[in-house]
Amino acid sequence: MARVLTGIQSSGRPHLGNILGAIIPAIMLSKDVQNEAFFFIADLHSFITIKDPKQLIENTKATAAAWLAFGLDTQKNTFYRQSKIPEVCELTWYLNCITPFPMLANAHSFKDKSEKLADVNAGLFIYPVLMASDIIGYNADFVPVGKDQKQHLEMTRDIAISFNHMYGNTFVVPEPIIDERVMTIPGTDGQKMSKSYGNTIDIFLPDKKLRKVIMSIVTDSTRIEAPKNPDADNVFSIYKVLASETKISEMHSKYLAGNYGYGDAKQELFELILRRFQNEREAFNYYISNQQELEKRLQEGEEKARVVIREVLLRVREKLKF
Ligand code: TYM
Repeated sequence: MARVLTGIQSSGRPHLGNILGAIIPAIMLSKDVQNEAFFFIADLHSFITIKDPKQLIENTKATAAAWLAFGLDTQKNTFYRQSKIPEVCELTWYLNCITPFPMLANAHSFKDKSEKLADVNAGLFIYPVLMASDIIGYNADFVPVGKDQKQHLEMTRDIAISFNHMYGNTFVVPEPIIDERVMTIPGTDGQKMSKSYGNTIDIFLPDKKLRKVIMSIVTDSTRIEAPKNPDADNVFSIYKVLASETKISEMHSKYLAGNYGYGDAKQELFELILRRFQNEREAFNYYISNQQELEKRLQEGEEKARVVIREVLLRVREKLKF
């Protein structure tokens, strides 16, 4: 059996990018009889940016509810909150001490975020090492992630390989699974959809609020009557990742023909999201209002996950003679 592992931060509520880029493909992999999956909510990573504990807990619950709403089987797989298994922090310390400073200083994500964020803390810097511990601490074979995580996975492999080289075979060296065909889902402003850019679409919002978000997608000021270029428009690029081939080509023709406004396209996108995710929206609300069930499922997963990382840590301490 191969172990598939992935995590999602709870620095905001889960968005369409996380769902199409991570949750749906990861759950598909978890359904394969050859695989068992470890899926978790990276709430320690989220603390790098979210300092309000109440907000962090709310986001963590919403992220957990999203995994369950999309059909994660928590009997077969292991589902947990990163912070409930603090052994990962001990492992991070050992790995910090064998990770070269320039590797972290040159990471794209660190460079990018340290320019944009007001709070550039040490956690942001060692973020990739905690991520490596998340992965090699649980003996993951495969890690499905979006393209934006590629470099973090390369660092994880480098860290695992150099530890194994220095102390003898200790860690499984994981393989990333990055589907290059799965595009980076664009946000309401056309940039990559990201919690840190404030351009996300939260498909679990109540109808009215969701509609408001869809209506806020940035478009140019071409008049209704005029033909429009679908390939240069944000509404169409989001519609494209959700609709069927036929519907996509219908909307494409409407753009080119004119007399079709961006407001019309936004309304179609809104209705499509409601239709396509109707069951998941209902299931999400169920889990949000049944916190006890959510908590129970997570705690069961945390029991299972803890056993695995403790074994790995024993191995590491043994090698390091601590
Ligand atoms: P995070 O929380 O930023 O994103 C979670 C997953 O969603 C994917 N994703 C996207 N895919 C397509 N289009 C988008 N706009 C988009 N935005 C996000 C990401 O590629 C990712 O797969 N560091 C990780 C969390 C993490 C982790 C781990 C992942 C911590 N430890 C161990 C895997 C293994 C992160 O911040 O993802």
